Amino acid sequence: MSKLLLIDDEADVLYSFRRIFDSPEIELTTASSGEEGLKLIPQLKPDLVLMDIRMGGINGLETLRRIRQLDTKQLVILMTAYGTTQTAIEAMKLGAYDYLLKPFDVPKIKEIVANALKAARDMKQVVSYQPLLESEDYELGFVGGAESMQQVFKLIGQVAASDATALITGESGTGKELVARAVYHHSNRNSQPFLAVNCAAIPEQLLESELFGHERGSFTGATNQRIGKFEQCNKGTIFLDEIGDMTPPTQTKILRVLQSGTFERVGGNTPIKVDVRVIAATNKPLEQAVAARQFREDLFYRLNVVRIHIPPLRDRRDDIPLLVNYFLKKIARDQGREPKSIATAAVRALEKYHWPGNVRELENVIRRAHVIAKSEAILPGDLPTEVTGQGATNGPVPTTAADGSTTDAGALARQLFQIAKRDPKLKIIPTVERELVIQALKEMDNNQVRAAKLLGITRATLRKRIEKFGIHREMKIE
Ligand SMILES: Nc1ncnc2c1ncn2[C@@H]1O[C@H](COP(=O)(O)OP(=O)(O)OP(=O)(O)O)[C@@H](O)[C@H]1O
Ligand SMILES: [Mg+2]
Repeated sequence: MSKLLLIDDEADVLYSFRRIFDSPEIELTTASSGEEGLKLIPQLKPDLVLMDIRMGGINGLETLRRIRQLDTKQLVILMTAYGTTQTAIEAMKLGAYDYLLKPFDVPKIKEIVANALKAARDMKQVVSYQPLLESEDYELGFVGGAESMQQVFKLIGQVAASDATALITGESGTGKELVARAVYHHSNRNSQPFLAVNCAAIPEQLLESELFGHERGSFTGATNQRIGKFEQCNKGTIFLDEIGDMTPPTQTKILRVLQSGTFERVGGNTPIKVDVRVIAATNKPLEQAVAARQFREDLFYRLNVVRIHIPPLRDRRDDIPLLVNYFLKKIARDQGREPKSIATAAVRALEKYHWPGNVRELENVIRRAHVIAKSEAILPGDLPTEVTGQGATNGPVPTTAADGSTTDAGALARQLFQIAKRDPKLKIIPTVERELVIQALKEMDNNQVRAAKLLGITRATLRKRIEKFGIHREMKIE
């Protein structure tokens, strides 16, 4: 459950927030003045404070200044009905997480609060590397004994203290975000914000405004001024994930921030100066993108000052038992129970598998096995067949069969998920479901019983899908 503190001197604002946030996941506390809020914070330790700027007594900006003296990391969102650039900048300079103009609509405020609460959780996730070198202290969330991982840990230690830009590379699921957080955690900026931006997940026309903000009216839909991540993150660290997916104009702006620390908001012409450390990550070979002229060479060199490459899991198989052990303990702790043990034969199978989805895939396999294992020990039969199957004895198994079909549901789902992330408008589940129904019907000459069987659903369910997706009209099915 997340703790939310609302500070506002208007009774009806407090009232409407109580209604908006009446949810089992949120515990809302209210205060009607800055003074009252300041008294509450030390004992309440809220995950997020939402505060009005204009209040009787000490105003929101002053209250924020005093909150900062108590706690440099407290997340605070300021709200005002009287927005000026000056207060916006002042608010962000004081380290407000966001700055909102009233009135705002309910879905919007819910979304903003949910994002901020996620950021609060992310910031709490502590990562460290050192104790793991000597001890079995798994509390810290970053496991690795292989020589190549020791190299990664050392590099983290070396770059953390400097302000150098770091480029983290590695296949999907190898732990790039974990490394970025570790660098942040060990840096001098660790009491300042850490913000992650997934450049691949945000539509390109919005990415620039997400990063640099925009002025009111700068494009259709820009009804308010917006402060971008770089400004929010001043003095902190920004993690640009999937940087290879950034368009050339955004690349140019990023290069300028790296060189001079300045940028302009979209639609604005006042240069804004910030002091932000950039950590970037990519699972695409940027060298190739540079050669293909999709990625600016000068930006590449600028980012590549320190390169931390995380090897794929199949190249550090010795770490597999360590990771398995770690995940078993983590899962047990999350569920408040004793960790299950695992049969040696199951560990052997895990060690031999080629892990296309790397550590993330391993974690998912262990989670699934933990659920389905009937005894207190995980047995080979509790692992997915692609792990224990032929590949377990004969080394890597291809996930794609000769006819191009994939045999690994997990890998297929991951691919689909990547597509969905790139284009959320696609509505991936209904789209794929519709295609599957059409394919099965064609394959089975419109025989619904056989098509349903092929898809693993009942005939009644198939019937419902046919109607829902309008397939009966398209394929002239009665
Ligand atoms: N060495 C490790 N020790 C413990 N957990 C790890 C380790 N490496 C990765 N993980 C876990 O695996 C998952 C994937 O890691 P992370 O998100 O950092 O990968 P990524 O490289 O950013 O992947 P992607 O390219 O798909 O974004 C996370 O849940 C992370 O906590
Ligand atoms: Mg990632």
